[in-house]
Amino acid sequence: VLNWTDAATVEDVPADDVIGMIVAGKDLALYSVEGEIFATDNICTHGHARLCEGFLEGHEIECPLHQGKFDVRNGKPTCAPVTEAIRSYPVKIEGGRVWLALD
Ligand code: FES
Repeated sequence: VLNWTDAATVEDVPADDVIGMIVAGKDLALYSVEGEIFATDNICTHGHARLCEGFLEGHEIECPLHQGKFDVRNGKPTCAPVTEAIRSYPVKIEGGRVWLALD
């Protein structure tokens, strides 16, 4: 059973963009891609950079520091120098709000 945390309203996440937010003490990145919302940890696995300050193109987020990339759907690295996946979190939309399973 997933434990859902109310993180934001759907309108908080601009279309085809990324925002950073602290939820339950975690620094997270929320992405809106083609009307769907995704969530990952916000700090890159390669160095101390916040992905919310990077560049989102399609389902890929580019890190602002060395331009490594991750797939926001599953956190998998898609471009060097990142080699380690970033944690991604299940998302559900209910009542106009974005719920995350953070456990
Ligand atoms: Fe993100 Fe280096 S800190 S690619």
